Amino acid sequence: MLSFKSAGPREIGNCLVADVGVNACNKQHLRLASYAVEFHEMVENLSEKEPDKEDWRHIDALLSRISRVVAVHFREEEDLMVEYGYPDYARHKTLHEKFIKELANIQSQINNRNIRFKSKLSTMLWNWLYNHINVEDYKYREFFLEKGVK
Ligand SMILES: [Fe+2]
Ligand SMILES: [Fe+2]
Repeated sequence: MLSFKSAGPREIGNCLVADVGVNACNKQHLRLASYAVEFHEMVENLSEKEPDKEDWRHIDALLSRISRVVAVHFREEEDLMVEYGYPDYARHKTLHEKFIKELANIQSQINNRNIRFKSKLSTMLWNWLYNHINVEDYKYREFFLEKGVK
């Protein structure tokens, strides 16, 4: 396990992100985990009040950063799978597409300044970190190690 130390609230503590064996993917996963922590902190700060103009600006910036990194990461992971003939590629790609769709959904709520995005995105990011990376991505570890991909 890669230990990700959060500078965030105590209840998050350490977020453990699995070592999936591919360096580039590990780095991107940690970066996404740090965004999830940042997002969680932002939501915590907003729990007592409605977001003002400055808050929405921060939310927009963070979401566009998350979307960008997610898009790059998914593409790189999928390219690697295609290049080496990963047998579970199609299913994995479907899971990525589902996540992108959910992210687009949240993006439109944010664009409409709909406050309901808060709990939704936070939950989605954490589920994704724990379930997608630690379960689904982790499945390709052995495959890529055998192919000599680092
Ligand atoms: Fe991944
Ligand atoms: Fe993935």
